[in-house]
Amino acid sequence: MINCKKNPYAFINAEVLKVAEETSNIKTFTLKPSEDISFRAGQFMDVTLPGVGEAPFTPSSNHDHKGTLDFTIMSAGRVTKLIHQLKPGDTVGLRGPYGTKYPLDLFKGKEVFIVGGGVGLAPLRALLYALFNEVNDYKKIILRYGARSSGDIVYKDEIGTWKDRADHVDVLVSCDVGDASWSGHVGLVTTILKTEGLDVNNAVSIVCGPPIMMKFATFKLMDLGFKEDQIYLSMEKNMSCGIGKCGHCRIGPYYACKDGPVFPYDKIKDLPNIWD
Ligand SMILES: Cc1cc2nc3c(=O)[nH]c(=O)nc-3n(C[C@H](O)[C@H](O)[C@H](O)COP(=O)(O)OP(=O)(O)OC[C@H]3O[C@@H](n4cnc5c(N)ncnc54)[C@H](O)[C@@H]3O)c2cc1C
Ligand code: FES
Repeated sequence: MINCKKNPYAFINAEVLKVAEETSNIKTFTLKPSEDISFRAGQFMDVTLPGVGEAPFTPSSNHDHKGTLDFTIMSAGRVTKLIHQLKPGDTVGLRGPYGTKYPLDLFKGKEVFIVGGGVGLAPLRALLYALFNEVNDYKKIILRYGARSSGDIVYKDEIGTWKDRADHVDVLVSCDVGDASWSGHVGLVTTILKTEGLDVNNAVSIVCGPPIMMKFATFKLMDLGFKEDQIYLSMEKNMSCGIGKCGHCRIGPYYACKDGPVFPYDKIKDLPNIWD
């Protein structure tokens, strides 16, 4: 007889409490798991539609908040299209959390320079909430976020309130292309990465977004004086098992699901195809 408690692929049920439309193809789902789940910002979970399939996502909510979890999910293909059809009252499966967390202890006393692109702001939202929990432990908290257009900005209702958390929190958003509804900065996110007022020697940078954005943001950060071990990347490699068994997520000698998804850049910089 199979003991489900020992089955690494067993999931627990979670009820969909709320669905918020962020953009035309991104929604935030608030889930209430049937058991308490304790994750740390940066870790990911597998969301399962029983009988259909599963996909990995990083919770985007505060890791200190008990009872519910948020997932911000872009409709990309088969599973995510069906997840987007979920309504309050529906049930999904959850397994995890898996992988590495952001090393908050190493960030303490430092200037934390966060760079996000598109739906990559989801794990960074969890990171920001974790930093805000102990806001005075960090010298500065700076977010630079890029979206394709104003219609593609996620968390529109709350992003403008983050700078009010403390005087040393600074948030700037840029859109790749402008339109009549956007009076902010226009240009790729790399155009708003600047070090004025930043003590690079006492800073860390955390980058999450589409691979091409992560690549050019990392190179720009290095041009600005960040060293390879000061840059942390969230590597969203294609995953299957999520638990270091199948090899789908290999990056050189590492498995992104087990040794990542959060990697310091110096650990992976020489490995092939890290930006694919
Ligand atoms: C650790 C981790 C955390 C993630 N967190 C989030 C999140 O918070 N929010 C979110 O919207 N997405 C996140 N993703 C990406 C998400 O898992 C994929 O979009 C999803 O698996 C696509 O499944 P699908 O069946 O809908 O698409 P498929 O039909 O499998 O594929 C559709 C398209 O999406 C691409 N794709 C598939 N898997 C990935 C992937 N892992 N990364 C990038 N592109 C992919 C395929 O190449 C294809 O072009 C995360 C991925 C990982 C590995
Ligand atoms: S997803 Fe299977 S080994 Fe990482």
